[in-house]
Amino acid sequence: MDDLSYFSVEELDSKQAENELARLASIIFHHDRLYHDKDDPEVSDAEYDLLRLRNNQIEKKFPLLIRSDSPNNTVGSLPSSGFKKIAHSKPMLSLDNAFSGEDVYEFAARVKRFLSLGEHECVELLAEPKIDGLSASLRYEKGIFVQGLTRGDGKTGENITANLNTIKQIPNKLSGTSWPDILEVRGEVYMAKQDFLALNESQIENDKPPFANPRNAAAGSLRQLDSNVTKSRALKFFAYSWGEHSEVLGKTQLEVIDHFKAWGFTTNDMIFVNDDVAGIIDHYEHISEKRSSLSYDIDGVVYKVNRLDYQDRLGMVARAPRWAIAHKFPAEKARTTLNEVDFQVGRTGAITPVARLEPITVGGVVVSNATLHNADEIERLGIRLGDEVIIQRAGDVIPQIVEVVKSAVSNPVINFPKECPSCGSHLVREGDDVVWRCSGGLICPAQRIERLRHFVSRTAFDIDGLGSKQIEFFFKEGMINSPADIFKLQKLDDAAPLTALKNRDGWGALSVTKLWSSIDQRRNIAMDRFLFSLGIRHLGQQNARLMCLNYLTIENFLENIIKAENKESDAYIGLLAIDGIGEKVAESIVDFFVEPKNITVVNDLLDQINVEEFIPPETGNSNVAGKIVVFTGKLEKLSRQEAKASAESLGAKVSSSVSSKTDILVAGPGAGSKLKKATELGIEILSEDAWLELM
Ligand code: IVH
Repeated sequence: MDDLSYFSVEELDSKQAENELARLASIIFHHDRLYHDKDDPEVSDAEYDLLRLRNNQIEKKFPLLIRSDSPNNTVGSLPSSGFKKIAHSKPMLSLDNAFSGEDVYEFAARVKRFLSLGEHECVELLAEPKIDGLSASLRYEKGIFVQGLTRGDGKTGENITANLNTIKQIPNKLSGTSWPDILEVRGEVYMAKQDFLALNESQIENDKPPFANPRNAAAGSLRQLDSNVTKSRALKFFAYSWGEHSEVLGKTQLEVIDHFKAWGFTTNDMIFVNDDVAGIIDHYEHISEKRSSLSYDIDGVVYKVNRLDYQDRLGMVARAPRWAIAHKFPAEKARTTLNEVDFQVGRTGAITPVARLEPITVGGVVVSNATLHNADEIERLGIRLGDEVIIQRAGDVIPQIVEVVKSAVSNPVINFPKECPSCGSHLVREGDDVVWRCSGGLICPAQRIERLRHFVSRTAFDIDGLGSKQIEFFFKEGMINSPADIFKLQKLDDAAPLTALKNRDGWGALSVTKLWSSIDQRRNIAMDRFLFSLGIRHLGQQNARLMCLNYLTIENFLENIIKAENKESDAYIGLLAIDGIGEKVAESIVDFFVEPKNITVVNDLLDQINVEEFIPPETGNSNVAGKIVVFTGKLEKLSRQEAKASAESLGAKVSSSVSSKTDILVAGPGAGSKLKKATELGIEILSEDAWLELM
């Protein structure tokens, strides 16, 4: 069967329309399940909306072909197991979508027609942000919160009372007076953008998968069977609607919202009322402009008929009320042509293909570049130069190519380079990593300055008076290009008295003399510092130390590593046999020394300095032997794994939680509850630097 998704609705004949409706019903159902049950959507909301829009356009053109399982006859998807299912006293509805101003005018006209209002009679409309979260229904009996349900399939929800009870913005008891004895307040549970970022940071820190977006994070947090977990997540709630109520709530939507406020709920502060469509669309524009500066995600603006008697008369159709509509923000997608692909080298050597596009406006911004991520993505898309593609922009995210819509076999294929476009060194790719990296770290112009910064960093050469700022200065002046140049600086400066450093802005004679002396002091360097300073991937401090313990001298190390290029060699087998060195690390070290340009850089450096022989320490007498150590927060110099291994190698025991038995807490930026607990317990707290010092 033809792939009909490339046909416009106008082009479809009735047989094709029937097939297309079947495909869309099944694919929308699939995405509904992923979104509602698994909180793990495969497509963006914008892509999903496009599918629904296409379905609706076909249904409109071929009303006789509407299926019984049309996505418009079902709401969301059935609730998943784990929580008790409870029927809603009144169905929780969904909203129809408007994608253009024209759709909004049509909505208003429909409302007026239904109410038999004359052309000049006004219908007041209320506009408010459409919050990108999950709806919940909160039941209050005599002012007390007694039950909270998810929307589920609209008819039956899940009982998540305990979890909703943990949300501060959901009152346990209504404030104020004159609330009805029975009242169901409905609204959106969501997570603020900042809280989402913080949660993801801690997910990563705890080796848990991060959430794709705040909505998923809110959903995941709400679906916890243990409400203590929900409590630890920063969830919020906006009240905007209601279910069963034992007394009349008011005359207008706005009046009820005001009651909600008085009863202790948080309501949105961007609610506007206007009696003509042009005015209401102005509010849409206003909210849309504010979108990126809001502390929470929204995906459109909801318009509601303000008068409740009108709402009652309008009632509902299928799954949505006739008195409301969601004006969605435009899908930030566009179709354009791929002109060229450039390969950029990141500061850490990662090669990223960048698509150069025929410039096009997407969501109000001109886009001419998009990321293609990596070689696998090029293959997955099957993309060629000259292809027509769909690009997508999501918020501040770099535009991406989501699909190829028109290609020709005669279009040239995209060849991923074999060598670094910046320095010509060979590219390497680790195991199943999708990223190709330049192996010429120290000589690659794209990476050089970053590598030089690393070279002089505190845990590497640590040269007094030569920090990041000075490295940048010397690099820009063309005085330092590779590590060896640092040790040639004084000679270079002496040879050019006219431009002597001591006469330059920011440098005095004393600081220059001091700099020369601190550089000289580092002409003798410990072997582990030396190896670490080279910035070889996976050769962190701990692994550098392992190299020292095993090879003892730099000469012995180099001799063996160069031989280890042959994977059958004793040298390679010996490297792998080191406890703590796996294939990934071994290959990374060997790869570095396979590149002749790196050998040149290292030899140049060795001409300038002396790498001390490593004297293995006596075991059992380290500062931290026998102590219980906990790491928390973000470590900047050591990876978590490395920090743990280094502590253990010195006889410490690493624990993941703080208790009265803990001896030392090493806390990096962002440390939270563990730091608080350790402070309360009076446990010794060290920064990462202080910890490194201690070791
Ligand atoms: S009113 C009967 N107002 O959008 C009308 N819904 O796509 C009920 N939503 O299920 C909905 N912000 O989860 C309404 N200000 C808002 C909303 C809103 C977000 C959600 C809600 C609803 C979905 C429909």
